[in-house]
Amino acid sequence: MTAGRTFPESFLWGTATASYQVEGAASADGRTPSIWDTFSHTPGNVLHGHTGDVATDQYHRYEEDVELMRQIALGAYRFSIAWPRIIPDASGAVNQKGIDYYRRLIDALHAAGIKAAATLYHWDLPQRFEDAGGWPVRDTALRFAEYAEVCYRELGDSVDMWITLNEPWCSAFHGYFDGHHAPGRRDPGDAFRATHHLMLAHGLAVERYRDSGLTAPIGITMNLESPRPATRRSEDVSAARRATEMHSLLFLNPILGLDYPEAVQDRYPDLPFPVEHGDRDTIAAPIDFLGLNYYHEPVIAYDPDDPTPEKSRVARSYHDTTEMEWPITPRGLYRHLLWVGEITDRRWPLYITENGIALPDELDPSGTAVRDPRRIAYMRDHFTAMLDAMDAGVDLRGYFAWTLLDNFEWAFGYTRRFGLVFTDYVSNRRVPKDSYYFFREVISGAEEF
Ligand code: FCB
Repeated sequence: MTAGRTFPESFLWGTATASYQVEGAASADGRTPSIWDTFSHTPGNVLHGHTGDVATDQYHRYEEDVELMRQIALGAYRFSIAWPRIIPDASGAVNQKGIDYYRRLIDALHAAGIKAAATLYHWDLPQRFEDAGGWPVRDTALRFAEYAEVCYRELGDSVDMWITLNEPWCSAFHGYFDGHHAPGRRDPGDAFRATHHLMLAHGLAVERYRDSGLTAPIGITMNLESPRPATRRSEDVSAARRATEMHSLLFLNPILGLDYPEAVQDRYPDLPFPVEHGDRDTIAAPIDFLGLNYYHEPVIAYDPDDPTPEKSRVARSYHDTTEMEWPITPRGLYRHLLWVGEITDRRWPLYITENGIALPDELDPSGTAVRDPRRIAYMRDHFTAMLDAMDAGVDLRGYFAWTLLDNFEWAFGYTRRFGLVFTDYVSNRRVPKDSYYFFREVISGAEEF
C-alpha cells in the first residue's frame, strides 16, 4: 500500500439507490403494485411490517436529493426505473406520468452536472407478471424486453449509463429459493428457471438496446462472490469452489458465452435450465462494462450437515461486523477485483455499482449532525483496496456508494441505515452524516490513500 495516492480525475463517483427503496408514492400517478408491495404488505415478511409505501418519498423530494448530490459534486446518480410506473397494466400502454417523473429527475440531475445511471430492474416486478408465473416463466423475459425498449425510446436521449438488472442472483435465489425476498417462493426448480429467464431478459434488453442505435454504455450489475476457504483443507477449498460456482459462475458464464457451470448441473441433476435455441448467443450479447456490488468477502467451510448439495456454510470470522452482521473485509475487495479481472479475462471495464455499511446511526443532540466514523473508516479502507487493485492493473472506472440516504432495506424494513445522509422517517427530513462530507473530500481529490 502506498500513501499519497488519489483517484484519476476521470474516475466516476456516484451513489446508488433503487426505486422501491426510496421513491414511496406507491400508488401515485398510475403506479400499480409490484411484487415488493405484495410481499411487504403480507405479515411476517418484513421486519415490523414496514413497507415501501412512503419510503424516503424521493418521488416528491427528488429536487432536495439532487441538491444534496450537487453540493458534494457527485459525478453520477444510480437510480432504478420502476417497471410498474412505466407499464402499469395488462393493456401494455405506456404511462406518461411515470415517464415524466424520470424525465424530471434526469433533467434535475443534468442541471446539477450529474450523470444519470439508470437500472432497468431492481426487483420491482409488476405483480401481474408474478401472478402469471413470475421469473420462472419465459414470457416474463419477453415482457421485460418490451419494457426496456419503452425506456430506451422515452428516456434514451438523456440516460448516460444503463444497467439491465441488479443482482440477478438475489432475484432468483432470495425470490424463489429461500424466499427471503419477494415473491417469497421456495422451490429450487423455480430458482433455476428464474436464473435462466433473468439472464435471457438481460440479453434481450442488450440486443434491443443495440437495435435502438443509442450509444451510452450498457452493462449489468452482479453480486459476484469469490469466497475464501476457511482453511487450506481440500474439503473447505472445494466448498468455497462450489459457492463460487453457484453465486458467480452461474451468472458470469452465460454473459461470457459459456454454458451454465457443469458442476452445478451435476449437483442438481433434475435441474430445469429451460435453454432454447439461440438463448446462449442472446445472453452473451456484448456489454460495455460489468457492475459489481461488493459488501464483504465470505469465508466458506465444508458442512456435511448442509441439507443442500452445496454442503457448505459461512464460517465464523474474526472481523468486526456491521448491522447486517456482515464482516468488514476491505482486503477482500482487492482480491475480488483481481479475481473478477482474471476470470473475465479483463474483457470489460469494471464499476463498483454498490458498496457501503449499515450502522446504528443516530442524530447528535443538536439534531443537525450524525457522527459516523466507522463508515468513514470503511470507505477509506475500501478506497485503498480499489487503488491497490487499479495499481495491479484492474480497469476500475467508478464507484457508487450504497447509498445516498437511509432507506427501505428490503426484509429489514427501515432498521438498517446505509446512507451518507440520515433520513428522519417521521418527518422525512434529511441530515448529512459526517461520511457525506468525507465523500465530498474524496471526490474533490483532497483525500489521499
Ligand atoms: C444489495 C441491494 C441493494 C441494497 C444493498 C444493501 O444487495 O442491491 O438494494 O439493499 O444490498
